[in-house]
Amino acid sequence: MAVSVFPTRTEEIPQVVAMEQEALPWVCPFPATRHEALIADPSAFHGIARDEAGTAVGFLILEGLGNPDGSVMLRRIVVRTPGHGFGSRLMRWAMQFAFDRWQAHRLWLEVFTDNVAAIALYEKMGMQREGELRECIRQGDRWRSLYYYSILEREYRQKHGMAHA
Ligand SMILES: CC(C)(COP(=O)(O)OP(=O)(O)OC[C@H]1O[C@@H](n2cnc3c(N)ncnc32)[C@H](O)[C@@H]1OP(=O)(O)O)[C@@H](O)C(=O)NCCC(=O)NCCS
Repeated sequence: MAVSVFPTRTEEIPQVVAMEQEALPWVCPFPATRHEALIADPSAFHGIARDEAGTAVGFLILEGLGNPDGSVMLRRIVVRTPGHGFGSRLMRWAMQFAFDRWQAHRLWLEVFTDNVAAIALYEKMGMQREGELRECIRQGDRWRSLYYYSILEREYRQKHGMAHA
């Protein structure tokens, strides 16, 4: 099923916050005020993905758009019903947005080292693991680690067969 991405509206923030709660423990939820700030930030994109019926199927946040290094971060990607291909569609959208619309040089992200589903998605999309931030997040009495993943523009074009715009 096709998905379309629309800029998140302020009144949709409670829906986004609810999706983050459903995505625990794989994301560190933001307060509504941070979502609000990201929506207003011209160097960020906060978008809701909707299926053909208009139902919200997930959301994503990109940061660093237009920075001089061309280094864009996929800050967040969340899908409400995993395992139906929405994550792949959203990742393709994010890559096109970063590389074709914003002429990014690299797209990068952080992922918890035990997030098997997300890691499978990123590797399927051609992203490479760059390193590990060991035990960098404290959750109660538990330390959690993150991997950095990235894909460069030339790798994206080679993998996804997209010519330079
Ligand atoms: C990570 C997430 C976005 C993936 O979205 P999704 O819609 O489930 O992804 P897809 O259905 O497109 O699957 C993508 C690939 O990952 C693989 N995959 C999905 N879930 C998997 C799992 N639990 N274990 C192993 N592989 C898995 C699929 O096999 C698929 O590969 P394939 O097309 O070759 O079969 C989704 O699970 C999610 O929102 N999780 C909660 C929030 C989160 O973890 N966000 C990322 C934070 S960094």
